[in-house]
Amino acid sequence: MEYLKKPAGFPESFMWGGASAAFQYEGAWNEDGKSPNIMDMIPPHEGMADTHVTSDHYHRYGDDITLMKELGLKGYRFSISWSRILPNGRGKVNQEGIAFYNKLIDKLIENDIIPVVTLYHFDMPYCLKEEYNGWASRKILDDFSEFCEVVFKAFGSRVKYWLTINEQISILFYPKFTGSSPEDEKDDIWRYRMNHNFSLGHAIAVKLCRKYVPGCKVGPVVGWNVSYPATSKPEDSLASYNRDVIQGYSIFDLYIQGKYNPSFWSYLCDRGIQPEFSSGDKDLLKEGRPDFIALNYYRSATVKYAFLESREIKHQYNLSGKKGNITYPLRPGAYQECKNDYLEVTDWDWAMDPAGFRLTLRKIYDRYELPIMITENGLGAYDVLDDAGTINDEYRIQYLAKHIKAMKLAIQDGVEIFGYHPWSFMDLLSTSNGFSKRYGFVYVNRTENDLKDLRRIRKKSFYWYRNVIKTNGEIVD
Ligand code: BG6
Repeated sequence: MEYLKKPAGFPESFMWGGASAAFQYEGAWNEDGKSPNIMDMIPPHEGMADTHVTSDHYHRYGDDITLMKELGLKGYRFSISWSRILPNGRGKVNQEGIAFYNKLIDKLIENDIIPVVTLYHFDMPYCLKEEYNGWASRKILDDFSEFCEVVFKAFGSRVKYWLTINEQISILFYPKFTGSSPEDEKDDIWRYRMNHNFSLGHAIAVKLCRKYVPGCKVGPVVGWNVSYPATSKPEDSLASYNRDVIQGYSIFDLYIQGKYNPSFWSYLCDRGIQPEFSSGDKDLLKEGRPDFIALNYYRSATVKYAFLESREIKHQYNLSGKKGNITYPLRPGAYQECKNDYLEVTDWDWAMDPAGFRLTLRKIYDRYELPIMITENGLGAYDVLDDAGTINDEYRIQYLAKHIKAMKLAIQDGVEIFGYHPWSFMDLLSTSNGFSKRYGFVYVNRTENDLKDLRRIRKKSFYWYRNVIKTNGEIVD
């Protein structure tokens, strides 16, 4: 599927990495002064693991970094838990929390691994939900800026790559990630008020990063993917564009151009769900223009037109881990997602689509012309530890190989991509599918409810990815 004749490769300095997030792999949920965050307080789905121990990285970070070194990682994406640093959401700093991240960052640097740090990955301190309903209130902006300031001052001399908010869109579509509840308001008014507050939070983080971290590079993490029209009916193409706007450009435009996308704003006003602006918001949004875009990509979508009179279907997860148990979302007047018969899906019904990855990258770059770092991409699967003590995750190798090739083609197409952090370096807690849905190069020996010995075991994909890094992206078929 070459578009140009001259092949391109990965730049010499390409940052081959791995990714994770605090509540999904640190464990130690109530140790050394950490207070609960919203993810700790959500009861897990029946039979699934909670956040309490996860991969126990908090206690095993040293050995984990040794494994990262062996894998050859050049960069590593992780997040800082707000409630480990500021257990009350603000005020007194927990020095034990600072000490943990100091050790982690120092050890990464000692091993020549560049730290890439996410400020907010779904895990607001729970006390802020109780106090003022989290991101639904503008009060969060003062507390979030205090958190950013503490973190930049503590770690900014050693960390130069910063990520602001992880996947604002998921936070909106899956309300459990928001740390607030709609109370008696219409769902969508609350949702888009939070969207506005998150965008302001991003801009505040960018401004503070530039103030406290000389030489920093800062950007938001956007979870977005292309969608295809289900048929060649013009209405379905319109539906696909509607989805681009509602799930993608609406957020990119706020982050990068500092303004609401015009047709998205009309959509909000028409439904009476537009957020209120306070004085200064317009200017603040403009000041949030990032240095780069961080992209999370797993799958593509396919859509058909949905009439205004249709009944809304909210976003939902396949909780069973059996193919076909998915309910596709529908937004009246905009689009309904549906199955794509040309694409294979995972056991959780995510459509695997490397060509869609390339197309997503091109669409973003053509529109915004900012360098891109991939901060998540990977395959969630049921891995089996066999009697010989090995994990033959050939399916993951196939998935990653095809996506890395697609990324290379996107570079050849002219997209500037400078890093790739597959999700995830090691197995960790899935956001909705417990510990059974695994993503890592390193297996963590536990099940949903039996912690076993939490031993780390290299999967087949570990050795494969090590060679990809060593050869700067060569994929052997
Ligand atoms: C992204 C999140 O949306 O997808 C991660 O940033 C998450 O936190 C990842 O784990 C995969 O999703 P899931 O539901 O399979 O864990």
